Amino acid sequence: MKLLNSEILSNQQYGPGIFKMELFSPYIVRNVMAGQFVNIRCAPNDGTDPLLRRPFSVFDIEERFNVFSVLYMVKGKGTGYMSSLRKGDTVDLAGPMGSGIDLNTGSKDILLIGGGMGIAPLNLIAKMALARGKNVFIMAGFRDSSLLRWERDLVRMEVKYRIFSEDGKWGEKGLVSEYIFEGDRFYKKHEIYVCGPVEMLKIIQEKLGRYQISATALLEEKMACGIGVCMGCVVKIRGKNGSFSYKRVCREGPAFELSEVVFE
Ligand SMILES: Cc1cc2nc3c(=O)[nH]c(=O)nc-3n(C[C@H](O)[C@H](O)[C@H](O)COP(=O)(O)OP(=O)(O)OC[C@H]3O[C@@H](n4cnc5c(N)ncnc54)[C@H](O)[C@@H]3O)c2cc1C
Ligand code: FES
Repeated sequence: MKLLNSEILSNQQYGPGIFKMELFSPYIVRNVMAGQFVNIRCAPNDGTDPLLRRPFSVFDIEERFNVFSVLYMVKGKGTGYMSSLRKGDTVDLAGPMGSGIDLNTGSKDILLIGGGMGIAPLNLIAKMALARGKNVFIMAGFRDSSLLRWERDLVRMEVKYRIFSEDGKWGEKGLVSEYIFEGDRFYKKHEIYVCGPVEMLKIIQEKLGRYQISATALLEEKMACGIGVCMGCVVKIRGKNGSFSYKRVCREGPAFELSEVVFE
């Protein structure tokens, strides 16, 4: 992990209240692993509000151009400030952060299940897994068609996917969690990665648990220090024989075995 100043190459609207920021950084592009994130300072140089950096998954990398991107939804002050930045501005960031996912080993078949903005880390996992010759299948669910533009990225990536939306205006109508065991597909051979709202993670944990199918969840707990010091981002993890431990999303995570996460 390094502290960096990266130049913004573009910061364009991707959907309503959603932006994609492209940043020049040979260091991040060379070192990032799937599932990792960057911690962005979201205040002007002379400002301290907000004081804490904000975490964002690395959404995509373009190795040839030393460019990486983050896809973010405007939620509050920090992301509001990010959306005001323009091409040529610089961003103070730290990264890559968190424990990366090693895609060089494991199953040849990968299933990615995303909900809403949870697609952000899955996009990079898909790209990196495809580059390693893996078969990738994405199932993603959305409230509406706000992230419609992402489908163009999927088509360019030449990845297989199914999209679901609650209002039926994009892809198939329904919740992605209802379709994960459709027909005779059981995904027992697949390495599964899931990212999305807690309610979705809980349903998928319960459904996969019924068949003892393991999956990796990428968690998005609120963070303070982002470097493993404050314990502000801990999640409860189930151990053996009914024991529990607390793990830091920013250090040991954000990827955890879904069946071991205790959602409180
Ligand atoms: C590892 C990790 C990766 C993330 N990746 C992305 C990403 O790729 N794209 C993206 O849009 N967001 C991502 N997030 C969430 C993002 O960090 C928050 O949305 C952001 O910090 C909000 O900052 P803010 O100052 O704009 O809002 P704040 O003023 O801090 O908060 C505004 C609202 O957002 C809620 N919020 C803040 N942090 C989170 C969080 N971590 N999860 C859910 N709700 C939150 C607050 O409760 C509040 O209601 C990620 C979070 C983590 C921990
Ligand atoms: S945010 Fe401080 S330990 Fe994770």
